[in-house]
Amino acid sequence: MSSSITSETLVRKLSHSTLRNLSDFLDPQDAWKGVLVDIHKDTGEPRYTQLHLRRFERLVTQGKSPTVELLYDWGTTNCTVGELVEILIRHKLLAPARVLLPDITAAPVATHWRAVEDPPTEYHREQTQLCAVKLDKAQLKEETPSTLPDSTTRPEESEEPDEEGFYSFTYRELTRITGNWDERPASLGGSRLGEGGFGIVFKGLHNIKPVAVKKLNLVDDLSPEELRSQFNQEIQTLKMLKHVNLVNMVGYSCDGQYPCLVYAYMSNGSLLDRLACLDGSSPLSWQVRCAITLGTARGLEYLHNNNHIHRDVKSGNILLDESFVPKISDFGLTRASAKLSCTTVITERIVGTTAYMAPEALRGEITPKSDVFSFGVVLLEILSGLPPVDENRDPKLLMEMKDEIEDEEITLEEFIDKKILDLDMESVERMYNVASQRLNERKNRRPLMNEVIAELEGS
Ligand SMILES: Nc1ncnc2c1ncn2[C@@H]1O[C@H](COP(=O)(O)OP(=O)(O)OP(=O)(O)O)[C@@H](O)[C@H]1O
Ligand SMILES: [Mg+2]
Repeated sequence: MSSSITSETLVRKLSHSTLRNLSDFLDPQDAWKGVLVDIHKDTGEPRYTQLHLRRFERLVTQGKSPTVELLYDWGTTNCTVGELVEILIRHKLLAPARVLLPDITAAPVATHWRAVEDPPTEYHREQTQLCAVKLDKAQLKEETPSTLPDSTTRPEESEEPDEEGFYSFTYRELTRITGNWDERPASLGGSRLGEGGFGIVFKGLHNIKPVAVKKLNLVDDLSPEELRSQFNQEIQTLKMLKHVNLVNMVGYSCDGQYPCLVYAYMSNGSLLDRLACLDGSSPLSWQVRCAITLGTARGLEYLHNNNHIHRDVKSGNILLDESFVPKISDFGLTRASAKLSCTTVITERIVGTTAYMAPEALRGEITPKSDVFSFGVVLLEILSGLPPVDENRDPKLLMEMKDEIEDEEITLEEFIDKKILDLDMESVERMYNVASQRLNERKNRRPLMNEVIAELEGS
């Protein structure tokens, strides 16, 4: 039966028994929804909206198969088996792909993703539908940076943490654990995790645990003494502020050419990257987005209750651990960047950050209410999946989309990220209202962070 099927076969020519065969794999646990959102028109726009999705969903109550109906519908566009198989493989649905092309072997997708065999289980559904950016343990081992040639003697580990639990690393030791500051991407066997306004971030292993080492390099307009004193001040701040939604500092090093901060490694990277589905990561589900929103709000509330203003709240500074628990980062470094952000407004980095800045923050006035505003922009990103700034978009700044919605230029439904499959419009509206109030131009009209949590929980 399937032997006569090739990549060029039209989906509309598939026999009913082949379609039923596919539906045995794709109907359970709503795996077909993942396929539906990945179907695009020639223009690149998604073919199906949430309304279509709900229509297909309702077919179940009529005893029909949503997979079969979806393939009937999409088949009318003369799509091919090759296109369908490509989508199935992207969603790690190898078993249904093999119903069509039995010789399919491996998934040509990012290698650290689990391939999903056979009909999806609850686990698989969560992995593919909710979010799945788990680092394979075996890969972690392979990625362990190699030791430096001169480290044949006993490795000089920072033996004991100080009484506050922080390790004082030597620069030499950090050089070793980052494979001599190997700037090749960590995903390709090097150590580089990313780069920001303070320098490059490297991955290393400390006491068998992965860590992120930020090598500070902001000496342009700071003397080495100023930098050193800022750095010491920052460590004191980091030592004082501890919360489940703040990134944990593991230690620091200040004996080398560059001061370094060592943080717990966050295996799911930044919220910015996960919303953009970078490196082929699955879209974040609504449920996970709500949990990230609440956690971030709690972290910011904690900072504000401790008289600390973050000043650089953005999705790139919200990191996600292996369970997608949000951890706010760089809350200690913001004072060190004060000089930088006031003087070099035209650099690319600052332009990126401007996309989050409240009107008064742009004028140099910093209050907790400016963090509240930036949090509002992050909420718009979570709702829409859109980047905070896009030169090819009208409006370029995401924060201006609020006016578009309020002027009824676009509806909230149109604004919402089409990649979300488990939408709950009631809580979407609640989150949008929270965002909209935080984005008030007048700072005194913006509610404080502690009100966000109650509002999001709908109480
Ligand atoms: N603790 C960490 N665990 C895993 N990855 C990290 C960690 N800290 C940073 N990264 C990665 O390194 C990248 C660069 O981080 P960095 O904080 O230097 O820059 P940024 O947040 O983009 O800009 P900024 O300098 O304004 O904070 C992040 O986007 C993230 O992908
Ligand atoms: Mg950062």
